[in-house]
Order: sequence, then structure tokens, then C-alpha cells
Amino acid sequence: MPHRILSKLGEIATPAFVVDEERLQRNLQILAHVKKQSGTKILFAIKGCPLMPIFQMISDTLDGFTASGVYEARLAQDGASIETEIHTYCPAYAESEIRELLALQNNIHIYFNSLDQLNRFAPIIRAHNKFAIIGLRVNPALSVAKFAKYDPCRAGSHFGVSPSELTDVDWNLVDTLHVHALCENLAEESAKLITHTGALLKDFLPHVTSINFGGGHFITHPDYKTDVLINALKEFKARFPHLTTVLEPGAAVVYDAGYLVASVLGLQNNDGVQNAVLDASANAHVPDVMKAGVRLSVLGETEDQPGHSYTFVSRTCMARDVWGDYAFAQPLSVGDKIVFADGLQYSLGEANWFNGHPRPDLAMLETGGNIRIWRHFTYADFKHNYST
Ligand SMILES: Cc1ncc(COP(=O)(O)O)c(C=O)c1O
Repeated sequence: MPHRILSKLGEIATPAFVVDEERLQRNLQILAHVKKQSGTKILFAIKGCPLMPIFQMISDTLDGFTASGVYEARLAQDGASIETEIHTYCPAYAESEIRELLALQNNIHIYFNSLDQLNRFAPIIRAHNKFAIIGLRVNPALSVAKFAKYDPCRAGSHFGVSPSELTDVDWNLVDTLHVHALCENLAEESAKLITHTGALLKDFLPHVTSINFGGGHFITHPDYKTDVLINALKEFKARFPHLTTVLEPGAAVVYDAGYLVASVLGLQNNDGVQNAVLDASANAHVPDVMKAGVRLSVLGETEDQPGHSYTFVSRTCMARDVWGDYAFAQPLSVGDKIVFADGLQYSLGEANWFNGHPRPDLAMLETGGNIRIWRHFTYADFKHNYST
């Protein structure tokens, strides 16, 4: 375990989600480089980590936020400065939600998923706020997402209109087109989406002022070649110079920028399997471990030589609430801290109260080395969810 992290996180109460400020800033610097070199706007898709205390830091570097609906949009308004842009996309809105979005103070962009919703609500938006930007999501039919389960372009997908429907669009109602096809993809797929979109939508792009290439661009991953993305964006801009280009990554902003810290509460050898029972649950706190087969690495685990091997299990009643198998050079003891790396993306937003075990605290390891605890969850928070 890197010394800075070992010495600081060893004292923290568990379970806890801990943002690593230095690593978050490192990601933001990579994104700032892409912005500067490509002239593209970059938004943070809140769903990737809806942690309000980091919003101001993010909006100091990026151009705004992408929300999945009214509540995330309100969180962006509450967590960042009033000038920040808020883009909202939802597969279907209720009319009351459109009115709530229009009541926000920020520079609001509302994206629709169907012509039906566009034709019903865009006139209301135009009448209410002539500065609000209206978007339409198009399904680019490009299946390259890393996890098939998360492929928005799968056959029969409900995400976006098909390009053939664009001939029926009233272009007075649309300012921007939106394509989202990626999930944890590297630069080659980002470039493929950008080039593909240029070819697919060339007849319609003259009608709009911007194009949003969605999320899933894993820009801060060490294998991601930012130059490939920058060149693809520049080529696109050379072809369509009137367009503002937009990316809206979620995962890439917080990738490897924080931890889930847990403690070993019990050790149990059954049928030759050494189970270590943790106070953090895969099922309740990082559901992608169960849903998508994600394996989080643990700081200090041994990869090469056989060590002391453990199956990390959780305290919920779900039999397969299992983190995976981990080996260490030394045996584990009850009370040891387990630090899962890359613990922020899609964990906080999906975490739940299943079985009522305490939810991880929210904290930050500041650049100077201090730990700041933002939130400690108690029984009152649990009760609040299930009582009048
Ligand atoms: C429309 C849209 N934009 C952006 C994102 C963010 O994607 P990621 O966190 O993979 O970058 C998603 C993720 O589901 C999405 O559905």
C-alpha cells in the first residue's frame, strides 16, 4: 500500500467512501488537457458519483454537469456555482418535471428521448425560457460498450430515436443532438463513435448548434490515448465547424480517485475456504461487483506469489454477496483495514440499505494528508428512508 494512504486511512472509522483529492485533481487535469487541445466542452455525469461536496472542485475545471432527471439537476444546482451548465437527459419526463427543470436558476439544457416527448414539451420550454437549450437523443446503433449489459445500442434499445426518424423533426425545436454508446471504452472506440456520428448524421447536423457524444469515454484510464480522442474531435470540428462538441463522462472523472475502506469483522474457515467477513457489502455498497462482475483491487494484495488467501464476503443475507478472492503476504486478523481501490465510480449512487447495515461514511483524503469526514450515517438515516 502506498505509504501516504496506508498511514492516513489506517485510522478511519469504517465503512467509508474516501475521495483522494490528489487523484481527483489528477483526473481533472487530464480532462482539462483534452478540453484545451480539442476545444470540446466536458461535463460530469453526476450518476457516476453523486457526491455534492466535490461538485465545486469539478466545475472549477469542467464545463458543467449531466443529470439523469430533476433530483440530480437540483443537486448540481445546490453543489456548484450558478453559472454552471446543467444538461438533463431522461428517457421520459412528466410535464411537472419539465416545469421543475425550468425553475432552476442555472443554464439549463433539456434532452428528449423521443419525438413524442420533444413535440409535447419543447414548445413549453421555448415559451418559458428562450435561452434553455433543447436536445434530442439519437441511437447511433454502434454496439461497442465494454459490458454488453450496459450497451445502450443493443437491439430494441429504448434509448434515443433512430436516425430515420430525424426526417420528421421540426428543427425549430432542437438545438443539439446527443449520442451515447460507450461504457468504459478506450480512445479507439471514442474516435469510432465520433467518426460514425459524423457520417450517420451529416444531413441533420447543419440544423443544430451542438453535438453531445455522451459518456463512457474512459479518458483518465492509463490505457486511454488522449491524442486519439483529441484528433478525432479536431477532425470532426474541421468537418462541422459550426458545432460545439460536448462529452459527458461520469466514470472517467472519478476513476481510481478514491477508496472504499472496510474492516475485517470475522474470519471463518468452511470447507477449506477462508472467509473474511467485512463491514462493507458488495451487494449494498458497490452493486456493480454483483451486477457486472467487477472486481475491485485491494491495496496491498499480492498478485504474483501465493500468499494467505481469503474470500471477502459481506454481512447481508444474500448468499453471493461476495467481493472475490484476495491474497496477502501476511495473514489477516480481525480489525484489519481493507482498502478497495477505485471505490467511487457507480458505488455511491447505487448503494442501498439492504439488511440495514451501516452505510459507508463520506470522506476525503485531502492533498495535505488530512482526512475530512463529510457525513456519518446513523440509524436515523436508515429510519428516515422507511418511516413517515
Ligand atoms: C446518457 C449518458 N451519458 C453519460 C453517461 C456516463 O457514462 P460513464 O460514466 O460511463 O462515462 C451515461 C451512463 O450511463 C449515460 O447514460
